[in-house]
Amino acid sequence: MANHNLSKIVLAFSGGLDTSVSARWLAEKYDAEVITVTVDVGQQENLNQIAMRSKAIGVKSHYSIDARDEFATDYLSPAIKANAMYEGAYPLSTALSRPLICSKLVEVARKENASAVAHGCTGKGNDQVRFEVTAKSLAPDIRVLAPVRDWNMSRDEEIKYAKDNGIKVSEKKSIYSVDQNMWGRSIECGPLEDPNVEPPEEVYEWTTSPEKSPQKPEYISLEFMEGELVGLNSDTLKVREIIERLNSIAGRHGVGRIDHIENRLVGIKSREVYECPAAVCILAAHKDLEKLVLTRHEARFKKTIENRWASLVYEGLWMEPLRRDLDVFIESTQKRVTGTVRLKLYKGIATPIARTSPYSLYDFGMATYDASSTFDQTLAKGFIELWGLPTTIASKLILKDDEEEK
Ligand code: ARG
Repeated sequence: MANHNLSKIVLAFSGGLDTSVSARWLAEKYDAEVITVTVDVGQQENLNQIAMRSKAIGVKSHYSIDARDEFATDYLSPAIKANAMYEGAYPLSTALSRPLICSKLVEVARKENASAVAHGCTGKGNDQVRFEVTAKSLAPDIRVLAPVRDWNMSRDEEIKYAKDNGIKVSEKKSIYSVDQNMWGRSIECGPLEDPNVEPPEEVYEWTTSPEKSPQKPEYISLEFMEGELVGLNSDTLKVREIIERLNSIAGRHGVGRIDHIENRLVGIKSREVYECPAAVCILAAHKDLEKLVLTRHEARFKKTIENRWASLVYEGLWMEPLRRDLDVFIESTQKRVTGTVRLKLYKGIATPIARTSPYSLYDFGMATYDASSTFDQTLAKGFIELWGLPTTIASKLILKDDEEEK
């Protein structure tokens, strides 16, 4: 029998409004010991300060878990190989972090012998789905609590609850709802809720506005080995290190700002602003290298798999066996994705401008229009005859029908 006695609750804690208010509320409502967990997925926030916030709310034990390398190798690398972009725009930064954070909550719950885990997600978004499906898949015996969803408070009511209970929240943090990790920043709420208004400059923290970015372009090179990121500008580095460095290099050039009207899983359309400097560069480079080494058939088929992969991850189904099945296909396509791509960073745009690979399928002799061409153009005539045969036969018939109708 599952133990649903809620004496200990393990809460995912970011130190923001939702999770701060949740910590106090859970303790009061269930008369439980609340244990807070902050997972470092490269959000570039002061973990000591977050630990202190937890203490100030009255929490007795707090865990800070450094999962940055695990996030980069086990979640972001597969996403890079899958060229994962939801609706062609969003690199899934928030979505990819949720199953990892959830697995850490479950680990702490096991260690502490807690019977419940909790998250601060609202009932309107995707994150509640990601947390709960992952938790139920990993630990069916553990209960999942969603205090923010259950109490159904507005953001203003939460701010009031925080004030009444002596929980401090910063002014800016309470206007915007922000989620961060090394793959990107997601920003919502406040003036962003009007899709007809340009995002105010203050929402951006990782990118310089293209108007103020350097007047000279910067060139960088990214090296891949079998689809895996291995180097930046001839330095051999870990995936995490490349992402961290690239966030600041590309951010300086204003690269990675995304303003997206998004279809959420729960059916709502939302306006989301993202800053994903490293992700935008890496995905552009990886896609570019694949163009050089994959056959036309591999590339076309892979696109459908990529879309499916991105949807599964967006829709909270990281644990779905189909995701792992798709990974096997994707992994197999990456065997020749080895090489280097050069990107030009300038005024908010990262453009692949040069690429090379030992597995390049580009044949200069075939492609060139000069005298050294090895492509026998006379073969094209017969090819067109046969290629167009079904279409020309059908067209003859249609022409005849059209004539008769007149
Ligand atoms: N729309 C994004 C997603 O569902 C981001 C959600 C979190 N955003 C936030 N500002 N808290 O993955």
